[in-house]
Amino acid sequence: MFAFSSDPAAVVDAGLLILPVFEGGVPGPGVRELGLGDAYAAAKLAGKEGQNLLVPRRDGDGFAAGAVLLVGAGPKEAFDVTTLRRSLGRVGASARRFGSAATTFPLAVGARHATDAVQAAAEGLGLGAYRFGRYKTGNDEDGGVLERVTVLGSPRWDQKAARDAAARAGVLVEAACWARDLVNTPAGDLPPAEIAKAAQSMAKQAGLTCKVWNESQLAQGGFGGILGVGKGSVNPPRLIELTYQGAGARTAPIGLTGKGIAFDSGGLSLKDAAGMETMKMDMGGAASILATMQAIARLKTKVNVVAAIPCSENMPSGSAQKPGDVITHRGGKTSEVLNTDAEGRLVLADALAYLAEKDPVCIVDTATLTGACMIALGTDVAGAMGTSDELAAELIRAGATAGEPIWQLPLYPAYRKLIDSKVADIKNVGKRYGGAITAAWFLAEFVGDVPWVHLDIAGPAYSENGNDLGPAGATGMPVRTLVAFLQARAGGSRKR
Ligand code: BES
Ligand code: MN
Ligand code: ZN
Repeated sequence: MFAFSSDPAAVVDAGLLILPVFEGGVPGPGVRELGLGDAYAAAKLAGKEGQNLLVPRRDGDGFAAGAVLLVGAGPKEAFDVTTLRRSLGRVGASARRFGSAATTFPLAVGARHATDAVQAAAEGLGLGAYRFGRYKTGNDEDGGVLERVTVLGSPRWDQKAARDAAARAGVLVEAACWARDLVNTPAGDLPPAEIAKAAQSMAKQAGLTCKVWNESQLAQGGFGGILGVGKGSVNPPRLIELTYQGAGARTAPIGLTGKGIAFDSGGLSLKDAAGMETMKMDMGGAASILATMQAIARLKTKVNVVAAIPCSENMPSGSAQKPGDVITHRGGKTSEVLNTDAEGRLVLADALAYLAEKDPVCIVDTATLTGACMIALGTDVAGAMGTSDELAAELIRAGATAGEPIWQLPLYPAYRKLIDSKVADIKNVGKRYGGAITAAWFLAEFVGDVPWVHLDIAGPAYSENGNDLGPAGATGMPVRTLVAFLQARAGGSRKR
């Protein structure tokens, strides 16, 4: 579906050919060649973001595509791989209506970033074309499926690298969109056992090893956090364990986990109605880890990864855990549950402790963990906290490559005491201020001395109004970041 070609724009067969125009009306690659140099200015457009002009083909026009979309791409000086991805993301839905699309955007970035630009162009169109249509009945006026994307580039570029980049984008778009589907699916249709089934069928297709722990196995294994959070729901919890071996058997694995709360009502510390509206998204961390595992298996990334993904549903009922209860986590540490709405850390604690037993080189977790992180960083930026600044820097770099911004918050030592408990080893809430950091301190208790970073994605996992790269709902963040991180690691995995 995603291909690279070095053909000239005029001869490319596509429903929609997408060309950039920069601020000031500066024509991008292909615009003059197709004889469209005047059309854009004639429409009184200036190349600003969002200023687009659709030119349907008429007999005698000098191009093969069904129509050309001239896309305002903003100032040329600011144009880079990230703005390229976003510009194309914004027109992905238009491309979908035409069924197939081609674009010259990467030619505006230049040879030095050619492969990154090819990948980003395909990602932008693929992600922007996403829709969640599962529950829409009747005629689809906004229809179409983007069947084919052709990314155009120079014959002087490394053709194999460019073809690989387009293919890689295809895998990443499918993975991110699968994560979006899982998150967008209502909790009523995707309880923990169903998430686990989705994981199992993905694993079978992608060639991963998958073990699903059921309730009695979790009890046997001492996973008190996963069970405690799940106790109030009629839908029992699960732990999904996925293993991918892309490197030698003697290479230590990277550990991954993600928060899988199928629905977060708050439990007995019940949320209000507005607070619950979007809480089907509280398994966004879990979905992103599942999709990351799928992507690296398909890309044959040369790393070993073990993922342990805890899935519970947080509900109030006669069987629910109560404020004041003490639970024993995997490995034996105890925590006092003072607020049942701080449940993500309880399930992650078990998963982190389990991963740490496997002696991994590092652990990364991702979770829609705290509203406090959204207060700190807003809706678009993920927070990174952990015990290794080097690992945090790697993830921040991977996020920048993927166009998924991540900012580090300090695991400030003096805040650790905020989760001291009078009755158990720790308690599950700190003070109101610094809530993202005290949540991270809770998690830190369970990783031993393994280098670890936690990504709080409460903001960027879900977009209330949609953004450049997709419609309202799940975003698929941080799937592409995690894959970029693992691919970078694949260069230099250390031996045990
Ligand atoms: N899932 C929520 C965090 C969240 C809130 C994610 C809004 C996305 C949007 C989490 O389980 C939660 O309820 N956190 C509490 C923690 C508090 C009780 C210490 C919060 O942030 O208010
Ligand atoms: Mn909660
Ligand atoms: Zn939650």
